[in-house]
Amino acid sequence: MPRIAYVNGRYVRHSSAMVHIEDRGYQFADGVYEVCEIRHGYIVDMTRHLNRLDRSLGELRISWPMSRDALTQVIRQTLRRNHVRNGLFYLQVTRGVARRDHVFPVQGTPPSLVITAKSTDPSIIAAKNANGIKAITVFDNRWDRVDIKSVGLLPNAMARQQAKEAGAQEAIYIDADGMVKEGAATNVWIVDRNGTLVTRPADHGILRGITRTTLMDVGAKLELKIEERNFSVPEMLGAREVFITAATSICFPVVSIDGQTIANGHPGSISHKIREVFFDVAEKIAI
Ligand code: PDD
Repeated sequence: MPRIAYVNGRYVRHSSAMVHIEDRGYQFADGVYEVCEIRHGYIVDMTRHLNRLDRSLGELRISWPMSRDALTQVIRQTLRRNHVRNGLFYLQVTRGVARRDHVFPVQGTPPSLVITAKSTDPSIIAAKNANGIKAITVFDNRWDRVDIKSVGLLPNAMARQQAKEAGAQEAIYIDADGMVKEGAATNVWIVDRNGTLVTRPADHGILRGITRTTLMDVGAKLELKIEERNFSVPEMLGAREVFITAATSICFPVVSIDGQTIANGHPGSISHKIREVFFDVAEKIAI
């Protein structure tokens, strides 16, 4: 069964799907994206993802490619055509196609919209949860508007590659004061010495992850104490638990950072509990 992509108004074979060479996403990374999880035939937290898309588009003054209702229908159709039950959809909106010029194209230039969907193997995620993952720390060299989910991900790609070459799966960004920011494609959490769940405030220094937001609801349901505050690398290395969150992974335990073992080197109980109830708390909309 061929994979199908939605590209600017048409459902086309993924293998031959194309955008114009002067799409501003291609030339200037002038676009935004969302990645949303699909689980057991349900779209997880779509309302929050589309709210964040709205914010990203607004911050960059890119218009919606179609109404929110129409976009929801196209997302559903793309998922159906790819028979996704467990997996994700990827959605990208750029400022559209125009002759190369740094300034914005003339008003009325239609934004480009691409949506892809893919199935993922739940057993790979289960193995990562059972064993935990390794991470490295890297200095944050990104621009200061990482609160916008822009497709300008070159520093993130470089950091992930650096992690891979060090035998790790995630790179954790550190700011100029030695405080933890977020992962190359995840938010970072610790369970501190008092058993409190701690994550960095979602100001302009990090992306406000949707999984991060829903995890706050999960924490409230589990009656866990949650604090949004900065924490240092030594505090993270000495934490009871460290885990990372993203729509694609929900909550992966981190058992080693820069070659140093976290706690006893095994995934912790809090992240386990969070995973158990996450999907009961998250919004689920049938495909
Ligand atoms: N990344 N921080 C960064 C830099 C991210 O790229 C992501 C998500 C997150 C977590 O956000 P959310 O919980 O909404 O997925 C935090 C996606 C999954 C990606 O780029 O593939």
